[in-house]
Amino acid sequence: MSNLLSISDLSLIEINELLDVADDLKVKRSKGKIVELLKHKSLGMIFEKSSTRTRISFEVAMAELGGHALFLSSRDLQLGRGETVGDTAQVISRYVSCIMARVISHSTLEELAEYATVPVINALSDLEHPCQLLADLQTIREYKGRLKGLKFAWIGDGNNVCNSAILAAAITGMQMSVACPGGYEPDPDIVAKARGMGGSVEVVTAPEEAAADADVLYTDVWVSMGDEDEKEQRLHDLGPYQINDALVNVARDDCMVMHCLPAHRGEEITSEVLTGTHSAVLDQAESRLHAQKALLIKLLGSK
Ligand code: CP
Ligand code: NVA
Repeated sequence: MSNLLSISDLSLIEINELLDVADDLKVKRSKGKIVELLKHKSLGMIFEKSSTRTRISFEVAMAELGGHALFLSSRDLQLGRGETVGDTAQVISRYVSCIMARVISHSTLEELAEYATVPVINALSDLEHPCQLLADLQTIREYKGRLKGLKFAWIGDGNNVCNSAILAAAITGMQMSVACPGGYEPDPDIVAKARGMGGSVEVVTAPEEAAADADVLYTDVWVSMGDEDEKEQRLHDLGPYQINDALVNVARDDCMVMHCLPAHRGEEITSEVLTGTHSAVLDQAESRLHAQKALLIKLLGSK
């Protein structure tokens, strides 16, 4: 693996190795142990969209590993004034050891990866959010002790995070059930790819059907970054897909409730469930730091 554009760029073996390293880094950090495996390495972080968790976790990850991260807003780069993605990728590659990018269109990432001479990491595109899922797998494994055989229910918009969840479930042997209204289905090529990998993926319309006996109940905002023009329609169509106490009661008694955050309380999830006993959302957010450290070490450590 030289880039991480899709969670499916990782094999099951690689995912398990990364999660083991991430768990180890989490323990070491809790004991105050310093792990400076990326001394003198730098990460260029291109952002075409807003971020709290991704920016901070990557920046802190590089700092704690002894390296350095640069926040590069596309508004400030010459990219925002028309310099090509290819030229930008080639030039930045001369300075930094790795590029991560949060982009409006997945094709921008593919172009960055084509021209960059250093590894490229997808920090969210319209198609996928692999770093989120890597961290989520760490959190699920921590809570449940395993991944294989769990039922993972996605409730709501079949968006970028959902696409990565479908692929992550297929790789790790989780049974995936997506409940969404017509018109909000996950990317059909992703579903086909997951099934082609032997993944069990069902797409249904009733949230209760997906949530039934689920080990993991996962949701995300109904209006993703870039979907703002469709806000009213989306809130209307996705209204019946809220994770609330009634839906949690359909899942297993020990189900985990997950959300990549930021959340819109009272829309895709109630405030009670988001902060309730089933919620894993803050641990998910923390896992971003550990899982991305493991990823950065894998991509940059031996170079
Ligand atoms: N979950 C996630 O990627 O959050 P940010 O948009 O805050 O980075
Ligand atoms: N689906 C959301 C995820 C944010 C982390 C978005 O793309 O805005």
